[in-house]
Amino acid sequence: MALRPRNAVPRAQRAKGPGPASILVLHGPNLNLLGSREPDIYGGRSLTEIDAGLVRQARAAGVTLTAFQSNHEGALIDRVHAARNERVGFIVINPAGLTHTSVALRDALSAVGIPYVEVHLSNVHAREPFRHQSFFSDRAIGTIVGLGVQGYEFAVAYGLSRLGG
Ligand code: DQA
Repeated sequence: MALRPRNAVPRAQRAKGPGPASILVLHGPNLNLLGSREPDIYGGRSLTEIDAGLVRQARAAGVTLTAFQSNHEGALIDRVHAARNERVGFIVINPAGLTHTSVALRDALSAVGIPYVEVHLSNVHAREPFRHQSFFSDRAIGTIVGLGVQGYEFAVAYGLSRLGG
């Protein structure tokens, strides 16, 4: 029997088509306000700064990283669908408020079958009870909560290692 390394990407989940696989970072509603939105909870860095850092981190490993934020559930779903045809090999997602409500965004991620890690800037488990429930965690490879912007960086580093970058 051929053995497969524990973290290898199953054939069905590998990005399709020629060229190297890329990473997609998705940010849900209200994350466009990072920097000014409840900085005691979410930190002082803007989303533009965060995304620029993640792009640099991936580029240093020779991998393209694209970031997308929307306040609209349907736009995020459409972006996930589009990833199917874009050689996206790994998704980092902070679904924000949709974490606790969106069966539809969860279904979109399941439909495309691209492996993902769920990130939350704050420790959702130490906050209001309604934030303890996620529609994404059981399908995620892993979740990172409460580490602020470093959570995104760790998730991208993991994605790069999976993609062999
Ligand atoms: C969040 C946590 C969610 O509960 C909240 O609705 C957000 C941000 C986080 O990154 O900590 O918008 O996903």
